Amino acid sequence: MSDDAQATWDAVDEYFAGRLSPTDEILAATARESSAAGLPPIAVSAPQGKLLQLLAEIQGARTVLEIGTLGGYSTIWLGRALPSDGRLVTLEYSPHHAEVALRNLAHAGLADLVDVRVGAALDSLPRLADENPPPFDLVFIDADKGNNPHYLEWALRLTRAGSLIVLDNVVRGGRVADADSTADDVRGTRSAIDLIAEHPRLTGTAIQTVGAKGYDGFALARVL
Ligand code: SAH
Ligand code: DHB
Ligand code: MG
Repeated sequence: MSDDAQATWDAVDEYFAGRLSPTDEILAATARESSAAGLPPIAVSAPQGKLLQLLAEIQGARTVLEIGTLGGYSTIWLGRALPSDGRLVTLEYSPHHAEVALRNLAHAGLADLVDVRVGAALDSLPRLADENPPPFDLVFIDADKGNNPHYLEWALRLTRAGSLIVLDNVVRGGRVADADSTADDVRGTRSAIDLIAEHPRLTGTAIQTVGAKGYDGFALARVL
């Protein structure tokens, strides 16, 4: 992608975000604190965060599961869609990321609603399933892309007919179209796309995007 194209996408995202998903003090502080703590700048953009909030609202979601917390930026958008007695469980491998997220979520007034669980998601998910939680209304998968098919399988176990599953970053710079790729992220993402295509309880689509995060995209799957 040329620098020119990225500058245009940045300017358009800034315009849309300014009008439709303005960054309040809490989101700005979350971005600032995450950056100051050395977290990578890979959180969803503000327009994408607002999309997550809208999707959760459209779902009438009371419960959300997130895989990949980072500093809690997407968590805050999703948490804002929930009623005060709702529940958001978010899984994060890095204790440092989780600690930063906990501070940001507390500052956002979401400490009581959000349950941050530290550890590899593939360890946390069976533990969560053992608790027999009520089905999650929305699952946002945004962690290590190689495990996407496993996360999708767990999402299926933890949801109900009508639940929505969102997978971030499915384009991999275009490499997702390469059936011969040996890269973990491409293989994991392609397996997840195959599952959405073939699983009798899933129907979905994938959308390419440009914006502040460059050339990217997400998949949506509805549980049948
Ligand atoms: N959803 C966040 C961004 C997540 S970035 C947002 O948009 O604001 C991906 C996160 O997944 C990182 O914090 C990384 O530490 C975490 N991660 C990577 N591998 C993981 C694993 N196996 N289990 C749980 N989290 C993992
Ligand atoms: C990366 C991870 C993300 O979740 C994302 O949205 C963008 C980039 C990454 O690991 O590079
Ligand atoms: Mg992501």
